[in-house]
Amino acid sequence: MSPQITITSLKNFIKYSYLDFLDNYLYSIIMIVLYIFTVIVCALVSLALVGFITVQIVAIFTADAPFVPIPKDLEDEIVENLGLNSESVFYDLGCGDGRILIKAVEKYPGIKCVGVEIAYLPYSLAKFYTRKYKNIEIRRQNVFKTDLTSATHIFAYLYPKAMTELWPIVKEQCKPGTILMSCDFEVENVQPNKIIQTKITNSKRGQRLSVYEV
Ligand SMILES: C[S@@+](CC[C@H](N)C(=O)[O-])C[C@H]1O[C@@H](n2cnc3c(N)ncnc32)[C@H](O)[C@@H]1O
Repeated sequence: MSPQITITSLKNFIKYSYLDFLDNYLYSIIMIVLYIFTVIVCALVSLALVGFITVQIVAIFTADAPFVPIPKDLEDEIVENLGLNSESVFYDLGCGDGRILIKAVEKYPGIKCVGVEIAYLPYSLAKFYTRKYKNIEIRRQNVFKTDLTSATHIFAYLYPKAMTELWPIVKEQCKPGTILMSCDFEVENVQPNKIIQTKITNSKRGQRLSVYEV
């Protein structure tokens, strides 16, 4: 074996070993980065989920109602029974993700809608979903602190205690003839002008709409 051949083989050996090493090294780095990225994403998603569930549980006991959206099948029935017209100013007090407001505007494009929501998550969802409707205003506010004077129609899906506290405020601020519709829960010790049994059969929520007129 000539010395020339041996040196060439040695050079080749070093070259290819080096490339192999580089290949493996790069591969390991990419895998580690991917692994860290996956762990961070999973941790953030879990954190958001735990945060959301905790807030919901706390809201069940402390708030005027947790974020439990109205069943989709009930949206049309609510809007139809509110008796809106093109001049209406419609408020959803505790508007959640804004789904009733969107239904109302789709049916009556000229009306003015106001959604009032205290919790950040539903408020952000409502802002996002209603972004293309110029006549829907979303306020991040407590329903008891909001100005209701322009309302002609109000919808609320809140606990009975909140509905009972809301009614005197509605009566004080709103014009005679203003409609307050409550889903499932009544204003205590006040006879509604109308009770509508809804067509919902697949859920315990949204069974009844009570209508009060100022
Ligand atoms: C049962 S959900 C109804 C959501 C929406 N109206 C719907 O029908 O799909 C009640 C909503 O009211 C909000 N809420 C509860 N108390 C409130 C308050 N004092 N002021 C504003 N929003 C409130 C909750 O955060 C929740 O999103």
